[in-house]
Amino acid sequence: MRPTVSTRTTGKGLISAIGVVMMCGAGLAAPASAATPTAEKTESAQAARESSGGDLTKTPPMGFNNWNATHCGADFNEEMVKDTADIFVEKGLKDAGYEYVNLDDCWAEPERDADGKLVPNKERFPHGIEAVADYVHSKGLKLGIYTSAGTWTCNTEPGMPGALGHEESDARQFADWGVDYLKYDNCNNEGRPAQERYQTMRDALDKTGRDIVYNICEWGENKPWEWAPKLAETWRTTEDISDNWDSMLGIMQENLKLSQYASPGDFNDPDMLEVGNGGMTDTEYRTHFSMWSIMAAPLLIGSDLREDDGAAIDILSNKEVIAVDQDALGKQGEVVSQEDGRWVVSKELADGSRAIALFNETDQEQTITTTADAATVPHADSYKVRDLWKHSDSTSNGGLSEKVPSHGTVMLRVTPEK
Ligand code: GLA
Repeated sequence: MRPTVSTRTTGKGLISAIGVVMMCGAGLAAPASAATPTAEKTESAQAARESSGGDLTKTPPMGFNNWNATHCGADFNEEMVKDTADIFVEKGLKDAGYEYVNLDDCWAEPERDADGKLVPNKERFPHGIEAVADYVHSKGLKLGIYTSAGTWTCNTEPGMPGALGHEESDARQFADWGVDYLKYDNCNNEGRPAQERYQTMRDALDKTGRDIVYNICEWGENKPWEWAPKLAETWRTTEDISDNWDSMLGIMQENLKLSQYASPGDFNDPDMLEVGNGGMTDTEYRTHFSMWSIMAAPLLIGSDLREDDGAAIDILSNKEVIAVDQDALGKQGEVVSQEDGRWVVSKELADGSRAIALFNETDQEQTITTTADAATVPHADSYKVRDLWKHSDSTSNGGLSEKVPSHGTVMLRVTPEK
């Protein structure tokens, strides 16, 4: 269950003031409610969030983050952020559900100002962050930001000051700028317990009165799936992804084990998408996107969409696959079988159907076979089988068998017929 802001009003106008925080982090500790002097306030904020339905988004957040494309390179700047917002609108990505345009590390100057406030990097963001937020909001989209639950962010050259010890002031600044989402990283945390640090920012966000989506980015180090659902909408489960097959595959396999922890408003985050960055084939990127969707992962585009020749946007815009990710039941797909690299993963959907991924990890074409019963589709005499990449229908009496190319995924939606 995701926390909501205790002071939030219910007016629709406030939705544009919503923000998300993301945590990336360090060591396991006792629950903050038992370990900090703010226990009473913390408990009441949590109670308020839970009684009001908790989480700010019931389905996995969708949007963009620059990190995988740029790291701290010069091409991460105001122009890129505004161009991405424009592309979201012009190329149909906003219509497909992409909403958050998020800044990662290095958006600020290395020094705080005389009042201890963060200073937007003068070269990257010469008009400040509020101007960027205004632009993004004018497109009907939302702005996300990044900092670390440490004294410094993860990048060292140059990086920027982290929020440890500055939580209230930094959260206030984000809210004043109109930030809607926070990714909260874990570097340079001075060995302080993760839960305590992430709780402190939770409280600081609550105090602002603005709805800010909260992403905990502590890389799965302290089993965040066991405690982050009370604090945040999403939590990273693994180390950083890279734009290659082995990295994507390893992260997928780790994240698949955590299906029991996903529910509406609370989602495992296996890191941002690499689709479009060039290190994998389109077949592999379709697998990446299919598997992130069947795992109900946040769908944060991580490539520079200005450089796309159409192939990446084509994959990222598949509304039938996106519908699997965004399904209201909020379930993460479960592994049905895995034999010699032939994977079957099934995700229960709100309409009683199942999304079924037939994923081929091997270096040769494989025939992958399962049944509707094995994939937990409610039993029927016949089933409608929709291929979500070919956009075609067929009928089955329960058997499901497909030829799947090396590193490919056939993504089906199987619905019992009367
Ligand atoms: C960590 C995070 C990444 C990215 C970098 C920025 O490694 O896990 O996603 O935010 O920091 O320095």
